[in-house]
Amino acid sequence: MAGLSRRAFVGAGATGAAGAWLTGCGQNTPRPDDSTPAVPPDDVPLARPDGVDDPAWAHVRAAFDLEAGTAYMNNAGLGMPPGRVARAVADGYRAISREPRWATGELRELVAGRVRPGLAAFLGADEDELSLTRNATEALHLSAAGFDLRPGDEVVFTTQEHPAGRRPWQLRAARDGIVTREVFVPSPLLRADDVIEAFEAALTPRTRVIAFCHVTRGGHLYPVRRLAALARDRDILSHVDGAQAVGMFPLDLHDLGCDTYSASLHKWFLGPTGTGFLYVRAGARDRIRSAFAHDATPENPAFEPPGTNDLPVRAALAASLAFMEQIGIDRVEARTRFLSDYLKERLAGMSGARLVSGSTPETSGPASTIFELEGVDAVASVPVIAERASIHIDEHRRDGHEAIRVSTHVYNTTAEIDRLVEALAGLRPA
Ligand SMILES: Cc1ncc(COP(=O)(O)O)c(C=O)c1O
Repeated sequence: MAGLSRRAFVGAGATGAAGAWLTGCGQNTPRPDDSTPAVPPDDVPLARPDGVDDPAWAHVRAAFDLEAGTAYMNNAGLGMPPGRVARAVADGYRAISREPRWATGELRELVAGRVRPGLAAFLGADEDELSLTRNATEALHLSAAGFDLRPGDEVVFTTQEHPAGRRPWQLRAARDGIVTREVFVPSPLLRADDVIEAFEAALTPRTRVIAFCHVTRGGHLYPVRRLAALARDRDILSHVDGAQAVGMFPLDLHDLGCDTYSASLHKWFLGPTGTGFLYVRAGARDRIRSAFAHDATPENPAFEPPGTNDLPVRAALAASLAFMEQIGIDRVEARTRFLSDYLKERLAGMSGARLVSGSTPETSGPASTIFELEGVDAVASVPVIAERASIHIDEHRRDGHEAIRVSTHVYNTTAEIDRLVEALAGLRPA
């Protein structure tokens, strides 16, 4: 940015989509010329990586503030946003505390004029089908609360759902007398057809909703489009939990055909902590209602939680969006698949390692690798790996597994994975 002031840089439109939008920002609430912008311009735009290997992604990795020597491989737990996203949050709060009047105006305009339409385009949805939430759990609750269900109506979900995807239905069972049923999904998942067949066998004339993940926390990729079609053919509604999918690969919600879709934006999308969304298909609004507004209508469905929200956090989603747009979500998928394939190859050469997540793109998300290590206590291994190797991983002691979860994003490297494999080898009993 040498030789250009930040403001001039924005004015020159050099920051890509976010920068171009910012030139028209703040018109309703003009700020004094000498004030700090509430909405900071992006840093230098990132070139689209040419290839999947580490050198092609070195400039992307440099956009993260992680301390030298530390490797973060728990993105499925909580995403590590690029430095520009963290700065956008801080700048937004700072601006509000300096001059709330114009700062809140600018931030609101950024959310309305850039974040909402940008997210809609990124997700293949219409803007009015999306509601911003604080996380996936909140969106899952809003979705489950909205379905028009009566006592005895059945909701079917899989044994691999996150508690956040299960509890909202359990609440409805306790309050409204609906019946919940679970279909068993094995790990590793070898065929997408296994999920389809499990649902087909479980549906009854009383089934009103099926609910399932896009990618499970255990790394399984479900055949969402086919499941949504299966439901539609039987006049059943479908809900998808996309917490482990959004920001990992290209997504087109209209094409998927589900009725509702909830997700975090603070995991793979690399948004600031405390961000997510709920999608409700426009055509399903006559069967899914607002959890808040008595006067909601299909034209004004009012799914979004009302009241004051964390404006600087929401507005900073513009920086995550620009980051994803600049590097390309198709490139993110290719890079994360490359890294997890590299890890899988290394694990294949380790005696006593057994993959729990799928090994093919048909049944596994590109970025999370879950495996058991014979004789290793997965929960105890997490702090040991952090201490010995400065690598952050997670455990997956669930669904009957004593497993370790390694979730690598674009910023990880093959050298870090080599270091991890070495540290894992040190965990094995002698
Ligand atoms: C599959 C799945 N659904 C829902 C959630 C909950 O996400 P959030 O913390 O954003 O509410 C998670 C979190 O790990 C998850 O993995």
